[in-house]
Amino acid sequence: MHNGTSVTQFIIEEQRGLSTASGEFTSLLNDIVTACKVISNEVNRGNLIGILGAAESENIQGETQKELDIITNDIFTQTNEWSGNLAAMASEEMDDIYPIPKQYPKGKYLLVFDPLDGSSNIDVNISVGTIFSIMRCPEGVENPTAEDFLQPGTEQVCGGYALYGPSTMLVLTTGNGVNGFTLDQNIGEFILTNPNMTIPEDTREFAINASNMRFWEEPVRRYVEECLAGKEGPRGENFNMRWVASMVAEVHRILIRGGIFMYPKDSKDPAKAGKLRLLYEANPMSMIVEQAGGACSTGRERIMEVKPDGLHQRVPVILGSKNEVERVVSYHKDA
Ligand code: AHG
Ligand code: MN
Ligand code: MN
Repeated sequence: MHNGTSVTQFIIEEQRGLSTASGEFTSLLNDIVTACKVISNEVNRGNLIGILGAAESENIQGETQKELDIITNDIFTQTNEWSGNLAAMASEEMDDIYPIPKQYPKGKYLLVFDPLDGSSNIDVNISVGTIFSIMRCPEGVENPTAEDFLQPGTEQVCGGYALYGPSTMLVLTTGNGVNGFTLDQNIGEFILTNPNMTIPEDTREFAINASNMRFWEEPVRRYVEECLAGKEGPRGENFNMRWVASMVAEVHRILIRGGIFMYPKDSKDPAKAGKLRLLYEANPMSMIVEQAGGACSTGRERIMEVKPDGLHQRVPVILGSKNEVERVVSYHKDA
């Protein structure tokens, strides 16, 4: 016996209170938890099992895939395809949707994921993560197409991420607050360690890739310049800056101690509205951040209200402590 609530127990008890719960969702989450444990183990062994480095391929977005991007994508699809909970899956690493193979029964949920977030960090042994989002398959749809995945973030049933850092953590919301679990390696279970996570409304810490400054729009430039001006500037206070290059690690830091994270719209590549992907990065993270009392915006609208127009659509992301996000949004209105 161990002390503490395991993630499985937590989910079962949470679902028990809902008249609509059929057990399918609990079973799906269990599979996702298993996939995250397997990925955690792979990431942890790193070079001992020779899985670091670039693969010989590019994904649909023209990014060089890392060996581990592909391995973790396979782990996620294989762990989630057989149990009859899903109608289909989609991920950063697959051009099109992943239908459930014919030999398995189909379920009522759709799963989208970024199997390895922050993958440029993997070779240098810095935190990476997995992000996932669960939606309902539209009523009456037997064989979902990409269209069926194009639901706004407000339709999500669950958003979550696993963080593979000094310890492995799983952070989840089903629309009823945010809870964090730490993997106890000795017993192989995620244990509830961070119940009811909340984001402080104010912060003096920001995260942005400042090498893109010359491509930013005026409102973001103004916000960052005011932070940099510190005590002597219009804010009258000093700010601190962080950039991990892994959204999972940045969001986790913000859940623990507050902060604002931005990957805003820029003019680097006019064909792209931002860098981060709406369905499997921005939406699940927005659900978590909003459930923890924070805010998420593109600068112009609430991220979760954006109507997706493609599986791999990108959006500008500004998220974190409520008052700072609202300030950046107000600068967009001023402009
Ligand atoms: P991924 O590794 O899944 O492609 O995502 C990386 C994302 C995000 O996690 C991170 O915040 C950002 O890209 C880093 O961007 P820079 O390379 O501009 O720092
Ligand atoms: Mn990512
Ligand atoms: Mn990724």
